[in-house]
Amino acid sequence: MESNSELAIVHSGAGKPIKVLMVCLGNICRSPTAHGVLEKLIADRGLIGRVAVDSAGTANYHVGKHPDPRSIAAASLRGVDLSAQVSRQINSQDFEKFNHILAMDSENLSSMLADCPQQHKSKLQLLLSFNKQGSLSVPDPYYSADDGFEEVLDLVELACEQFLEYLIELHSLSALRENFAQ
Ligand code: 4NP
Repeated sequence: MESNSELAIVHSGAGKPIKVLMVCLGNICRSPTAHGVLEKLIADRGLIGRVAVDSAGTANYHVGKHPDPRSIAAASLRGVDLSAQVSRQINSQDFEKFNHILAMDSENLSSMLADCPQQHKSKLQLLLSFNKQGSLSVPDPYYSADDGFEEVLDLVELACEQFLEYLIELHSLSALRENFAQ
């Protein structure tokens, strides 16, 4: 898997891929999980090259570090590999470069709204707004027990499935034949 600082574009296909950025505070727990989960769903749906995913943190506390070992372990049990990702902080170019920027919680969203140029603000959404019910924020698991990491995965998996359906519809995405895993 590519590092966090590169978009995971394997095929460019017809046209440019839709670019999605997952954002949390530290970019070592929730957004790397969302990044990995969405990448797996994209691969499962034969959409590699149609949708590219990256992640970042609003803070710089953990820049250059791999995801929290508890996130890596929990995701691995669900077939999602986070181990090659590297934390980075969101920057002003990200607001231009990405088509969809999904915050893990309302504080991440407020923080980005404060920095995002007006013309790009409509790109910002809460990931859990794609879940039909429940909380809109993914709870921060960093200071929690291991079950906090399971809860992150439960919430993120559901939301990413719904988000991908939304993307497919919105951008009329179809699978690249050579990527489609039967
Ligand atoms: P994340 O979790 O935002 O999901 O990556 C956190 C990681 C580290 C810290 C806070 C949240 N921290 O304060 O160091």
